[in-house]
Amino acid sequence: MRHPLHRRAVLTGLAAGLGACEGRAQSPADPGAAYLALKELAPFPVGVCAESGQLSDLGWRAVADRHFDRITPEFEMKMEVMLRPDGSYAFHAADRLAAYAQATGKRLHGHALVWFSQGAEPFRPLEGSGAPFAAAYRNYIVETATRYRGRVDGWDVVNEPIAEDGDGFRDSHWRRNLGMRHIDLAFAYAAEADPAAMRFLNEYNLESLPAKRRTFLRLLEDLLRRGVPVTGVGTQTHLSADESPATVKAAIADLAAYGLPVHVSELDISTGRAWDRGVLLQQARLAGAVTEAILAMPAAQRYGLTVWGARDRDSVLARPPKAPGDRPLLFDDTGGPKPAMEAVAAALEGA
Ligand code: XIL
Repeated sequence: MRHPLHRRAVLTGLAAGLGACEGRAQSPADPGAAYLALKELAPFPVGVCAESGQLSDLGWRAVADRHFDRITPEFEMKMEVMLRPDGSYAFHAADRLAAYAQATGKRLHGHALVWFSQGAEPFRPLEGSGAPFAAAYRNYIVETATRYRGRVDGWDVVNEPIAEDGDGFRDSHWRRNLGMRHIDLAFAYAAEADPAAMRFLNEYNLESLPAKRRTFLRLLEDLLRRGVPVTGVGTQTHLSADESPATVKAAIADLAAYGLPVHVSELDISTGRAWDRGVLLQQARLAGAVTEAILAMPAAQRYGLTVWGARDRDSVLARPPKAPGDRPLLFDDTGGPKPAMEAVAAALEGA
């Protein structure tokens, strides 16, 4: 049972934050009120994506070290970084992030072993070769998952296998060379290399596109029916602030209905450039709804909530060529809590 003071501090902060956003004169949150860290409030891991260059950014560390107890490498644990065109490996950046996680007592989520958008260059010489392509595919998954065995809670084993509009499956060099079996093989190789790690099928727009969610769930059902060792559902949950909190909650509940652990794996809530206080409040309501959706699951299914950036400035949505000015995350550019963070904290506090 947490000290009642903390509850007041969290709720005071929320009222001030929301009030400030609505422009009402509010007594500022008690300056002495120390916001409870999200990782202390949450009964599940709260993660943030990370890149090795941020480890020396004191502003990023101030937020990441305090509020999060898991990291997901934003891009440095992907094939485009770890597999050189000549087939050799470059693990140093991913190793730095794994070392940071270990040094700061954080968990680590591996992202991502197989993705349609990665690996075309190093595998180009093997295109159409049959067994050599298949061997190189296995070698990459086993080499990578073995290297981080015992250090990752889980892997996004296959990322974004569904067609953009949800009508069927995405084309890729993996599918062209190995067929849809590339998914079965990836999960089998990941299980072989690190049996204890969770193995996720990870996808985006599952809340916004019911057709995509239906295709994703049909794929999941088929994999599970055939004994493919999928052990978790990853929903990236990249949202726009104008989406319906009720629709998002219902979609996450739909994904949880299969009884597998669910990872909200890449949460950001785009405000666009022309945001105002009202948009920040919409963003807060969505962030709270996502948190409530996770809390509504049985504890065993709550793999965690990962946000795709610590501060707004860290978001991929705020970097060129995206629209500068977007404010998609829980903390502002200075690392201060936004209404979205306060809504997550309030949902956790109310659990
Ligand atoms: C993005 C990262 O944020 C960028 O830094 C990188 O250049 C490209 O990938 N779905 C995913 C993530 O699974 O890996 C993507 O992250 C965003 C979409």
